[in-house]
Amino acid sequence: MTLKAFELLEKKGFEKADGSWYELTSSIDKEEGLFLNKLISENKPNRSLEIGCAEGISSMVICESIGPDGDHTILDPFQSTEWQNHGVNNLKKAGFNNFTIFEERSEFALPRLASEGNKYDFVFVDGWHTFDHVLVEFFYINKMLNVGGVVAFDDAALTGLNRLMRFISNYPNYEIIGSVSDKYVSGQRKMLNVMKRTVNALFSPLGTRLKQELLNDTVVRSDSALKIDGNVTAFKKTAEDDRGWAWYKPF
Ligand SMILES: C[S@@+](CC[C@H](N)C(=O)[O-])C[C@H]1O[C@@H](n2cnc3c(N)ncnc32)[C@H](O)[C@@H]1O
Repeated sequence: MTLKAFELLEKKGFEKADGSWYELTSSIDKEEGLFLNKLISENKPNRSLEIGCAEGISSMVICESIGPDGDHTILDPFQSTEWQNHGVNNLKKAGFNNFTIFEERSEFALPRLASEGNKYDFVFVDGWHTFDHVLVEFFYINKMLNVGGVVAFDDAALTGLNRLMRFISNYPNYEIIGSVSDKYVSGQRKMLNVMKRTVNALFSPLGTRLKQELLNDTVVRSDSALKIDGNVTAFKKTAEDDRGWAWYKPF
C-alpha cells in the first residue's frame, strides 16, 4: 500500500514554495500511517476529525484514506504561524480538497463543534500531549463520536497519554481495537510492564478484586494485558455513553 504522504516520509522532507528544502520534524511514521489507513479502510468513516496538523503527514493519510467524498476537519492553532502553512500546502499540492482546517485550539474548538451538533466517525488526536489536555479532548470527542466510530491517539505511550488510554479502557462503551509501533515506547516503560506482570503473577492467588484493593491498578492490569502498549492506540465506540453520574473505575 502506497499513500501520497509516504513519498514525503521516504524523502524525509519536501520542497517549500520558495524552492528550499524542509526536513520533517514532527510526523507519524509509515507504520503508523498504515495503521490509520487500515482503521479507515475497515471502518469506512464519512466524517473525520483531527487534532494537530503540523507538516500535514497524518492529514494527508486521512484525506487519502477517506476518499474524495469524505469530509475531514483539522484543528491546529499554529498552522500558519509556527508551521508556515506547510500542512495545508502539502495537502493542496497532493490534490486533496476534502478537508477544512480551523486555526483554533482544540480545547476551545471541540466544545464549539460539539455544541453545533457535529458528529464524526473517525478522530485522530495528535496535539498537545499533557494528561489534562487529552482528557478534555476525549471528553468532547466522546460526545461527538458516532457509535461504531473510532478514536486513535498518537504518542499513546507518553505517561500522560498512557493514563488516558487506561481510563478509556474502563469505559463500558469503548473497546480497544489496536495499538501499534513499539519503537517509540521507552525502555523504561517496557521494563515497568515486565515488573508489573511479575508482581501481578506473585499476587495471582488473591484474584483481581482483592489485588485491585491491595495493589495499584496499573500493576494489576498491565498495559500489555490491556493491549494499549503501542505508540498509536485506537478504540471503537460500541454504544452510547450511559455511565451514571458518579461512575468511576480505578485506572
Ligand atoms: C506532533 S504535531 C502533529 C503531527 C501530525 N499529526 C502528523 O503526524 O503529521 C502536534 C501538532 O499539535 C498542534 N497543537 C498544539 N497545541 C494544540 C492545541 N491546543 N490544539 C490543537 N492543536 C495543537 C501543533 O501546532 C502541532 O501542529
